[in-house]
Amino acid sequence: MSSDTNNFHKSKKSAAFLKHAILDSYVTPFASKTGSTSRGSRVAFIDGYAGPGRYDDGSEGSGAMLLRKAKELAAMRSPRRVELHFVDDEEETVARLARVASDEGEGVSYTITDGDIATQLPTLLDAVKDIPLFVYLDPCGLPIPLDEVAGIFDRPAGPGTPATEVLINLTAGLRRFAGMLYSEKVVENSLKALDAACGGDWWRAVWLEKCPTKSASEEQKMAAELAVVEGYAERLSKRAGGAGTRIIEVKPRAHLKPVYYLVFATRSTHGLVTFGDSASKGLEKWRRHNAEMDAEDTLFGEAAEWEAGWNAEEARLKAQWVDTLTQRLITELAKGQPFRIIDKVEEILGDGLVGVVRTMHLRAAINKARAAGKTTTETKNVDDLYDLWITPA
Ligand SMILES: C[S@@+](CC[C@H](N)C(=O)[O-])C[C@H]1O[C@@H](n2cnc3c(N)ncnc32)[C@H](O)[C@@H]1O
Repeated sequence: MSSDTNNFHKSKKSAAFLKHAILDSYVTPFASKTGSTSRGSRVAFIDGYAGPGRYDDGSEGSGAMLLRKAKELAAMRSPRRVELHFVDDEEETVARLARVASDEGEGVSYTITDGDIATQLPTLLDAVKDIPLFVYLDPCGLPIPLDEVAGIFDRPAGPGTPATEVLINLTAGLRRFAGMLYSEKVVENSLKALDAACGGDWWRAVWLEKCPTKSASEEQKMAAELAVVEGYAERLSKRAGGAGTRIIEVKPRAHLKPVYYLVFATRSTHGLVTFGDSASKGLEKWRRHNAEMDAEDTLFGEAAEWEAGWNAEEARLKAQWVDTLTQRLITELAKGQPFRIIDKVEEILGDGLVGVVRTMHLRAAINKARAAGKTTTETKNVDDLYDLWITPA
C-alpha cells in the first residue's frame, strides 16, 4: 500500500473514531436519563445509515457499539431496555451487520432493515412513538431532506413526553455537491438533491458568498462549509419547533481546521448539556488518538514521548478553557444576581466552548471564581453543575 493510500485509510478511520467516541460517551447517559421515566424503561435508537457493524479490521462501527451498549444498559442495577433499529440499503452491508448482530446481540431487541431510510423512517417512528428516541444519521453522501429530519420531532413535546434527539453528519455530501456549483455541465439535478437535503436552495448563495470561485482557498471552502452547516442547524431548529441545536466541530487537534461537522438537535436543555459533555470526552479521546497516530508516523515516535507531549498540550488547553470560563462566570456574577449555567448556556459556553469543555472544566472555573472572591458557591459533592445556583459573593 502506498503511503498516500495508507494515510487516506488512516485519516478516514481516524475521522470515524470521533463519531464513535461521542456515541460511546453519550449513549449511556442518554439511555440512563431518559429511560428512568419511560414506560418499561424502554429507549430506542435508530441508526439510519447503519453500515456493516464492524469494519474489515474488526473495529467497532456504530452497529457493534450500539449492541454492546444495549447489553451494558440491560445489565445495570437500574436496567434500561434498549431497542435498536438499523437500516442500510446495501444488501451486502446488511448481511454483514446481521452477522455481527447475531454474534453479538444476544438478548438485545433489534431490527435490521434492508432499505432506504427515507422510506423506512415513518414506520420506525411509529414503532417507537411512545418512548425516548435517539436517531443517528451518518450517510456517506447526502442525508434525507431536512424536512424529514425535522419530522422526527413531530412527536409530543413538553414535560413528561419522551425525549427526541438527532445526531447528523452532513459534511460528506456537502463537500461533494457544493463543488458542482462551479461546473459548466448541467448538474441541476445534483444541486437539487442538495437543495432537498438542506431544505431549499438557500445554501447556494451562502456557499458562493464565502467561496465565490472554483479556485477559492482552503480557508474559504472551510468558511463556506461552516456557514452552510450553521444555516442548516438554524433551519432545522426552526422547523423542529425550536429544538436546540449544537454544531460539533470535529478537529484532529485543537488548533487545526475541522474535518467535518456534526449537528445535534434536541428539545431538552439537559440533553444539550449532557451531549456537550459527551462530545467533550469524545474530542479528548480523539485528540489523544491523533497524537498517537502522528507519533506512529514519525521515526522517533516513542510511546512515552508522544504521551508526555499530548499531556502537556492538554494541560495547556485545559488552563486556557478554564480561564475563559472563569472570565465569563465573573462577568455574569457582576450582574449581581444568582444564576444557573443551564440558563446561561450561550453566555458561558457559547462561542467555541460548546462540546469542547465539560463538567471538570466548569468545576475548576467556579472554584477559581470563588478563590478570586467573586462567588460564595461551593462545588464540592455537587454532580450537576449546570443546575447549581451560582451566587455573587
Ligand atoms: C458512513 S456509512 C455508516 C457508518 C456507520 N453509521 C458507523 O458509524 O459505523 C453509511 C452507510 O449508509 C448506507 N446507505 C447509503 N444510502 C442509504 C439510504 N438511503 N438508506 C439507508 N442506508 C444508506 C451505506 O450502504 C453505508 O453502509
